[in-house]
Amino acid sequence: MMKEKWWRNSVAYQIYPRSFCDSNGDGIGDINGIRSKLWYLEELGVDVIWLSPIYASPGADNGYDICDYYNISPEYGTMEDMKALIQECENRGIKIIMDLVVNHTSDEHPWFVEAKKSKDNPYRDFYIWREGGTGNPPNGLESCFGGSAWEYSQETGEYYLHFFHKKQPDLNWENETMRKEIWKMMNYWIDMGIGGFRMDVIDMIGKVPDQEIKENGPKLHEYLQEMNRETFGDKNLMTVGECWGADTRNGSLYSDPERKELDMIFQFEQIMIDQVPGKQKWDLQPLDLKRLKEVFAKWQKALDKKGWNSLFWNNHDLPRIVSRWGNDKEYRVESAKMLATALHGMKGTPYIYQGEEIGMTNYPFLRIEDFTDVESLNMYQERKEKGYREEEIMESLRAKSRDNARTSMQWNDSREAGFTTGKPWYRVNPNYTEINAEQALKDPDSIFYYYQKLISLRKKEPILTEGTFELLCPEDEHIFAYTREWEGKKWLAACSFYEKQVCFSYPGQGKVVISNYGQEAVTSLEQIELRPYEAAIYEII
Ligand code: NOJ
Repeated sequence: MMKEKWWRNSVAYQIYPRSFCDSNGDGIGDINGIRSKLWYLEELGVDVIWLSPIYASPGADNGYDICDYYNISPEYGTMEDMKALIQECENRGIKIIMDLVVNHTSDEHPWFVEAKKSKDNPYRDFYIWREGGTGNPPNGLESCFGGSAWEYSQETGEYYLHFFHKKQPDLNWENETMRKEIWKMMNYWIDMGIGGFRMDVIDMIGKVPDQEIKENGPKLHEYLQEMNRETFGDKNLMTVGECWGADTRNGSLYSDPERKELDMIFQFEQIMIDQVPGKQKWDLQPLDLKRLKEVFAKWQKALDKKGWNSLFWNNHDLPRIVSRWGNDKEYRVESAKMLATALHGMKGTPYIYQGEEIGMTNYPFLRIEDFTDVESLNMYQERKEKGYREEEIMESLRAKSRDNARTSMQWNDSREAGFTTGKPWYRVNPNYTEINAEQALKDPDSIFYYYQKLISLRKKEPILTEGTFELLCPEDEHIFAYTREWEGKKWLAACSFYEKQVCFSYPGQGKVVISNYGQEAVTSLEQIELRPYEAAIYEII
């Protein structure tokens, strides 16, 4: 039964529409821009696009604040463009999974516009309202973007809940009429022919604000089962839930097929390793490779039989991986390929974030004026008020700001990196003259072709999709190595995470499946010297 699921050997590519490709010169990426680049995605070999929100939105959080789920934001195009995109993707064997943002809406959504009018408005209960003390919010719940999660609403003298921006009021999932509206909207998109949904902060829908429960609330799985029954359950789509608060136990609750919830979750334990435990993402600490390996191995094991993993380094909320855990200077190409090897060798569905396949880097931010993202700007304000030093704040922002991922896609070395003929809504990384897609397509050793090879291996080799996972040398501080085994075949991945030359050994000989230094076809594995950021997958013979 599990094997019939088409997405098991798929590779997804995330498009952040605003920054991908602008077709009409207004400086904002759009749907027709995406249509003009489908050949590029087909060349890369991906078969799923995760499309960040393109719905009507006032743009307080770049589209994650939706005011009409049934319409396209004019800056991205029209519903006709969207239908054409779905059709053209289908012609190329690519499915589109839509971003489903239903933990909250925009405060400009007609439901909220109604809800805030009066306490007895029929839409009042679609959102979460509480009385506060004089000048005091109902409780200490905090917004993920900083400050209180409660906003006072003048009209009725009550507070509403917003776990993100105050322009993103939280929906009340206890309300059955509201849930039915969501099912209706999901079915509308399913009928249009999409391939599935990526569900924004879905682990928050079961919130219990009075007990200060944000994630993993008691009714969360009940709601997901209802969603499954009422919408995609019998459709063979792909569903992935964004869950910052997941652990391996509830990871399999979401994605065990027998429970009829989601196909997989996007969890972030591996990505939070370079922050001080218990603190915020801005509180930096160096990567602890041993811990990273431990976390990956734990998830690989936990979801081996019951559930499914998403594999990713990057998305629109995360800094660029080659700058984060690779070396974006002299070993940019080697380290980008090494990181790709380590990730794509594991079991699960890999996700590539736009530009990752050409090794795009973090932006060289100098001043606070260089940032645009609400989360970054709020944190700057908050930490300034708390007395943090300017340089310390800037260091955190340079390392972790979501703006790193939101600069223009670098298509070629012409002005504005070929992203737009106008003035881009945000910045273009000055390194576009060297790092761009056109350049990558001309170079047979490029990061692009390495990703292409990894993707085609996943299509051809069931060991990558089905094989069991075993971590090797957990105590080694430089190398991430593991084996995969399937029907008598055994593969070994060995990835050096640092510049230092290191030794690795494994009994027997290996036939090279893929390698970032172009190794000999057959190698003895007894004593391998790994060069800076060297990585390879071998078939044990
Ligand atoms: C998670 C999304 O990935 C992020 O970009 C957004 O700001 C929040 N959810 C709120 O929707």
